Amino acid sequence: MKVMDRVDLRRNLGLLAGVVVFFMIAVMPVWAGAGNGNAKKGEKIVKTRKLGNCVACHYLPNVESPGNIGPNLVEVMQGYTLADRKDVTQWIRDARKFNPHTIMPPFGTNKILTPKQINDVVAYLYTLKK
Ligand code: HEC
Repeated sequence: MKVMDRVDLRRNLGLLAGVVVFFMIAVMPVWAGAGNGNAKKGEKIVKTRKLGNCVACHYLPNVESPGNIGPNLVEVMQGYTLADRKDVTQWIRDARKFNPHTIMPPFGTNKILTPKQINDVVAYLYTLKK
């Protein structure tokens, strides 16, 4: 290999590395958003009547007289690991997949909540894990 070729190669590798790093920085927030919702927003959604209003049926901490038609979500979350994130999400998206006779509203299917809001709710629920 001639000296000139080697210099070119090194310059090209440097450029390639730069492009890769740039790509990672540009795309990283999208990856993060896909997996990790905003727990703070999620908490607001579950406790707001016009949004999730999960507390009409479920016990959640720091809520005045939560409902008890559904299971206590603090207890429920102790039984889930991070690997079950898909199932937890599906419960909220459309619980009929697990129980065709459920009274829990299909928040995703009926567009009561957006996929992003559901992601935030799931992030909040995982903060309840002790
Ligand atoms: C109208 C009442 C009602 C509302 C509102 C409701 N749920 Fe439920 N939910 C239930 C019931 C009842 C169950 C128990 C399973 C069943 O009967 O389908 C349940 C089950 C669940 C489960 C699964 C529990 C388990 O054993 O794994 C999760 C998670 C859950 N609800 C989260 C939520 C969240 C988050 C919200 C708000 C976005 C919500 N629910 C709103 C009634 C409700």
